[in-house]
Amino acid sequence: MVHNKDKARFTEALLQWFAANMRALPWRKDYSPYRVWVSEIMLQQTQMERGVTYFTRWMQRFPDVRSVAEAEEDAILKAWEGLGYYSRARNLHKAAKKIMTEFAGVFPADYDAIRSLPGIGDYTAGAIASIAFQQNYVAVDANVERVFSRLFDIDTPIKQKENIAFVHRTAQELLPDGKARHFNQALMELGALVCSKKARCEQCPVQEWCEAYRLGIPHERPVTAPRKAIVSLEVATGLLEHEGHIFIQKRPEMGVWAGFWEFPGGSVEEGETPEQAICREFMEEMEFDVTPREKIAVVRHGYTTYRVNLHCYLLGLKNGNTAPVLHAATESRWVRFDELDAFTFPAGHRKLIDLLRGGLQWQWLREAG
Ligand code: ADE
Repeated sequence: MVHNKDKARFTEALLQWFAANMRALPWRKDYSPYRVWVSEIMLQQTQMERGVTYFTRWMQRFPDVRSVAEAEEDAILKAWEGLGYYSRARNLHKAAKKIMTEFAGVFPADYDAIRSLPGIGDYTAGAIASIAFQQNYVAVDANVERVFSRLFDIDTPIKQKENIAFVHRTAQELLPDGKARHFNQALMELGALVCSKKARCEQCPVQEWCEAYRLGIPHERPVTAPRKAIVSLEVATGLLEHEGHIFIQKRPEMGVWAGFWEFPGGSVEEGETPEQAICREFMEEMEFDVTPREKIAVVRHGYTTYRVNLHCYLLGLKNGNTAPVLHAATESRWVRFDELDAFTFPAGHRKLIDLLRGGLQWQWLREAG
């Protein structure tokens, strides 16, 4: 346990370890508020390696707040495509606009101002205030929670309110004045590299203060609450082809995958086959009378607690009428296969496109139009 008299020795051991072991992450070059902000949003729910790839590409496309604010939402979503949790991208866009109009284009340094931006909660506000502006705020993410659950041998579910409060309070007490940038990142880095799910206690710079280590039970911490049940969903989608062109439509601005382009489709209802579902959906959504020509694949895709089986069909029109009546979309297009890359699709549909890109039997489709 870290006692008050030990505080300085503890933080010194941690900071020294960080100085020697920190990864060369791209936003650590200059700690500009814009770059720190984007990195923090991207790293939520995202693995580090993937985050770095997207971050680097994002910075080439959007080097500053202004470029984000002035971009079309389509371009923002396109740069985010594949990362998931797209409200993060939409909020980044909204926040950039707010910074331009309310903060004269300069990222605010004041904690309350940072916290007022769309998509920024307690964690992110603390991370930006500390990492970009060196202010004395803590930033407690899942890595830090794990580190503390072991340091203090927290034996109840770590996400419980009182445990979260304890971790925040204790981190704040340990925070060395004026060193929040490195202290917070050192805790996160320790959680990522050493005090990871499988603890590597032999490498730990703060082992002597760790209660779970002393008791020989680091692997039993953190205690987690039971997982939410996984729900399976059967969904059908159709690639409607006509004279070498494929029908796509844009989803409304509200609801799931808002503003994304898609191949139409929907849930397979009880008592229905996926083929029946896709024909029904095309009639309901566009008043298109379609006939299934071939089953392309079943694409499996997971998001949050759902596991989706996406039944994908190649469809043809029963009559030659190519003009849709849109009931579930704001726009639609007939496009060639090689034009699909310009549009942002939900992950399952993107997997379908990749599948069609690879298969020899789809060469005619790739070259049509
Ligand atoms: N996770 C989120 N932000 C991080 C940072 N700055 N360093 C290490 N891990 C992080």
